Amino acid sequence: MSWIREGELTILERFCANIIKAGPMPKHVAFIMDGNRRYAQKCHVERQQGHSQGFDKLAQTLRWCLNLGIREVTVYAFSIENFKRSKEEVDGLMDLARQKFSRLLEEQCFLNVCFAYTSRHEISNAVREMAWGVEQGLLEPSDVSESLLDKCLYTNNSPDPDLLIRTSGEVRLSDFLLWQTSHSCLVFQSVLWPEYSFWNLCEAILRFQMNYSALQKARDSYMEERRRQQMERDQAYVTKKLQQEGFASHGDSRRRRTLLQKCTAMREERIQGFLQALEHKRVDFFERLCMVSA
Ligand code: FPP
Ligand code: MG
Repeated sequence: MSWIREGELTILERFCANIIKAGPMPKHVAFIMDGNRRYAQKCHVERQQGHSQGFDKLAQTLRWCLNLGIREVTVYAFSIENFKRSKEEVDGLMDLARQKFSRLLEEQCFLNVCFAYTSRHEISNAVREMAWGVEQGLLEPSDVSESLLDKCLYTNNSPDPDLLIRTSGEVRLSDFLLWQTSHSCLVFQSVLWPEYSFWNLCEAILRFQMNYSALQKARDSYMEERRRQQMERDQAYVTKKLQQEGFASHGDSRRRRTLLQKCTAMREERIQGFLQALEHKRVDFFERLCMVSA
């Protein structure tokens, strides 16, 4: 039986879900599921029991998200920092991951699990990938941009989260999706993760809805600024080319237009080539990793 699809909402929950769904809904929600150990302590059970109940809560939360029409969920399951915990706890979390991961991933087409992840590591890796592209002659240094960095992140196939929720009263991001959440609604809730309820989720979505227009405005003006910066870089490139050809800096306007189109098309082509090479490099890496761990 499916973990995710089983269990419908109660009549009251369905009623409230329908009211909430009348407003703008987040398409992608990220969770920092925090407070498992404090929950275990509070309930006088083993730590591992707290993590196990945390996993059950994740399955339940995914059902609520599905019912609310949220199409993508990303969770912080284990950070690189978590390796510093006791061997017993790390082994316990790894066992839990081994038992549950494959089944969860089989069922889910909308869940991203960040495991042994930190955002700063992800960002510096993306910068290294771009430097590699330049070194290999696949990219020009002027191709390096925020939008290219987006495409070098592990999350390149997902839109940025609209809403990020952290439980347990901690009000920090702990190195989770730092780049991707610059225009997300951040909601910090005091409830411990294993006690998370449908109503906590509704409250977070209501907060997203209350801030929706400001978030949208900030995101739109950022995208506009990004386009403007790219245009400026292309214009500077064309001006340099025209100067090399002996034209005055403003040049002949038809020649300028042609060069501008050519420059954009060539950049797109370089970037596509680079991204394909990057994809091959990643596939190679995972194949080698699988061979080592087999
Ligand atoms: C934070 O609570 C939780 C974790 C470090 C582990 C998160 C993992 C799960 C909820 C299980 C999901 C598992 C899979 C396989 C996807 P904490 O340990 O930091 O508790 P505390 O904040 O009370 O100390
Ligand atoms: Mg914690």
